[in-house]
Amino acid sequence: MVVDANGHSVIDCNNNYTSLIHGHANAEILDAAFGAARQGTAFGLPTRYEVDMAECLAERTGIQQWRFCNSGTEAVLMMLRAARAHTGRDLIIRFEGSYHGTGDEVSDQHSLGLAVSTRQSVIVLPQGDIEALTDTMRRVGDKTAAILIDLMPNRAGLRPAEPEFVNELRKLADQHGALLAVDEVISLRLHWGGFHKHYDVEPDLISAGKIIGGGFPAGAIGGSSAILKSFRPGDDRSVMWGGTFTANPVTMAAGLTAMRLYDKASVAALNAAGDRLRGELQSAGVAVNGFGSLLRISTTGMPSLWWKLYNQGVLAGTNGLLALSTAMSEEHLSRIQDTVVKSMTQIHDE
Ligand SMILES: Cc1ncc(COP(=O)(O)O)c(C=O)c1O
Repeated sequence: MVVDANGHSVIDCNNNYTSLIHGHANAEILDAAFGAARQGTAFGLPTRYEVDMAECLAERTGIQQWRFCNSGTEAVLMMLRAARAHTGRDLIIRFEGSYHGTGDEVSDQHSLGLAVSTRQSVIVLPQGDIEALTDTMRRVGDKTAAILIDLMPNRAGLRPAEPEFVNELRKLADQHGALLAVDEVISLRLHWGGFHKHYDVEPDLISAGKIIGGGFPAGAIGGSSAILKSFRPGDDRSVMWGGTFTANPVTMAAGLTAMRLYDKASVAALNAAGDRLRGELQSAGVAVNGFGSLLRISTTGMPSLWWKLYNQGVLAGTNGLLALSTAMSEEHLSRIQDTVVKSMTQIHDE
């Protein structure tokens, strides 16, 4: 529950843009954060929380090495730099409509403030179009450092990628010596080991963020030691990357606790709750996309729907996104369901 400045209560289905997997002010996460803070909030050295967090992510994803930063935006940029360093190539291929943060390479190509050279080093293709990708890789595969994909892009409608397309990505990347970079900043929550496990595909690099910070700012990339070794400080030509507050113990302790609480049973239960809610809404005639604990109402009725939901006690994303949290009870879920159905009916009747 969130109470706004006017005393109006809402069930929070935005959960700070999907990052609060256990809702607000979870007691165990706060204890971990305060416990770490009492020992010092930031050091110019690694802490055991950072090492434990890397091991936790490695165990879940099967991806060997991890490096941390303070946001998903930074994670994506670090991932692209890692791909360029490893391959010695410039070009990035990514897909239309996907949001990967606010870095230059992943910004809308028409947005002001981008260097021409940045635009020239990125190709944007329609997601799911195997022919366009095959053709592009035939032309520029030998110049491509990475194919970057979000397997269920929220801004593009929250539709899971087709398995056939994902297999093709892996195949084409391998054929042309490019890396497959999967942006899991939002989708990591959908499977204990990250959403790529659902597709049984092995990315070369993955970015994470949101839930791994336990409500504090966080980002990370994972990859093999062969790829991430280019960051090793001290090497003559190592990749430049740093951050004063990167992997600070408060974030790492909070995130580690959040991830441990989000164990296999918890992931399965939250996804099942999302599947049930999506099924109920669809049976009531509401168009909803998504997978597991992430749902998105598909409607042309925004922003009217957002306000109707808000006024009736449900906080959604402004695009109709509903991100469930483990703090939600059956009662919350049925109130969300009733409120969405009622609000959609009101929109149709207007
Ligand atoms: C898939 C994806 N990548 C990257 C980002 C950027 O993360 P942050 O807002 O932490 O910079 C987001 C944020 O919504 C995202 O959904």
